[in-house]
Amino acid sequence: MSQPPMDEDVSIADDLSDSGSDMDLGSSVAGAEGAAIHLDDAVSTIYPDDSISMRDFKTVQKKRRPAPSVASDAPSLVSFHSSADGHLFKMLHGRAFNNQSDLYMLPADDHEHSRLDIQHLVLRLYLGSLYASKHLVEAALRPNPDVRPAVLDVGTGSGRWALDMAMQFPHAEVIGLDIVPPVLLTDADVPDNCRFEVDDANLSFAHYENAFNVVHMRSANQGINDFESWLYETARTLRPNGVLLLVNGYPQLYDAQFQPLPTREPGEEGFTWVQFLWSSVYKAMHNRGNFATDSSLHWQRWLESNPNYRDPKTRSMYIPLGPWKQNMSEREQYVSSLMRENCIRILGNFKPILLSDGKKEADVDQWLANVTKELHDLSVHSYTRWQYTVAVRNVLPWQERLEEPQSMDAGSGTMLGPASDIASAPSGIAEILSAKV
Ligand SMILES: C[S@@+](CC[C@H](N)C(=O)[O-])C[C@H]1O[C@@H](n2cnc3c(N)ncnc32)[C@H](O)[C@@H]1O
Repeated sequence: MSQPPMDEDVSIADDLSDSGSDMDLGSSVAGAEGAAIHLDDAVSTIYPDDSISMRDFKTVQKKRRPAPSVASDAPSLVSFHSSADGHLFKMLHGRAFNNQSDLYMLPADDHEHSRLDIQHLVLRLYLGSLYASKHLVEAALRPNPDVRPAVLDVGTGSGRWALDMAMQFPHAEVIGLDIVPPVLLTDADVPDNCRFEVDDANLSFAHYENAFNVVHMRSANQGINDFESWLYETARTLRPNGVLLLVNGYPQLYDAQFQPLPTREPGEEGFTWVQFLWSSVYKAMHNRGNFATDSSLHWQRWLESNPNYRDPKTRSMYIPLGPWKQNMSEREQYVSSLMRENCIRILGNFKPILLSDGKKEADVDQWLANVTKELHDLSVHSYTRWQYTVAVRNVLPWQERLEEPQSMDAGSGTMLGPASDIASAPSGIAEILSAKV
């Protein structure tokens, strides 16, 4: 088997638009991968031995890889292989953070990577797949005797998506790239067709020219200064008909009718602690001049105007935050409980940002306790929202960006409230996956 010919018209419109039906999200989860998974079982699978406890990241040994078959001699590249690489981290409010970028403001320690493992599991189970647009991805990653298929996961975090892709496509080479190494992984976790590189995705990807059939980025856009330029740079790395997969979680919760939960102050009608805390984090980022998290509002438009891509499509998936819905299957209860756990943990992991924004620690701790209680007593009925944007690299020679890059600023739009609703109706999972293939 070979890759699709250069001029083959693999239509993403088919992949993302022709759902055939408006599937109920919950029932599609139940149907996706069987039932009766228990939270504790899954968590113990995600966390072998004692990895939940705070382990000193500096002692983690990363596997030394043979010379890569995808060129990677960028000056910015760092191989993480010993405790000497502790310079990749800095401490802030008692947590380890990356030492490369002030833009990205979540910790980079085993607490955060454990949370990312949970989030990865939720998204994988809910979507029933590692990626949107299955037909396109699987066509792009067909075994090819001439060129080994390759995948880049930008902002790989705990590395779980990269590992799962490497296992699903053992003939492909998978690279997970991040400003920090995946701190929970050991040699034994990493298959031979997978490796991790420490690099800043804001820097040039010239060393990856024409190197990948799939580039994936999930929830890392808050670390990218100029996302529109990044889309150009990434197009350079994609082979003809290569697939760009972008995913972003909204810092906004949605009610049972998929309308944004109002952002209110304590005591006001409609107030919820979870939305309050979430929007406080979002505002704290804006207060620091970080608007990068808003970039997903513009992905569709930027891809449409980028001469290197074709057929961009954007859809949203809504996942219940806790098992608050009536008549949930056991599976949906499980996945929504995991999402609740993920939400509680991410808000806790955002605590250093809130402290840096001038909030008092005692207040933040109380807010976190209130959120936890609110989510556990199921008094708030809300959904988290996940944006999936997919585009295909066309077969034309790469074109660089001609106009001056513009950084995101306060006028770029806000993800809070109705203004953020670029596609308000939830998409069926079948629509995201293109089940007709
Ligand atoms: C929220 S985590 C998501 C991790 C993973 N993609 C997932 O979905 O589980 C975002 C990751 O992006 C990484 N990141 C942020 N800015 C980056 C940059 N400029 N270059 C490379 N990685 C970056 C962070 O270090 C972090 O690991």
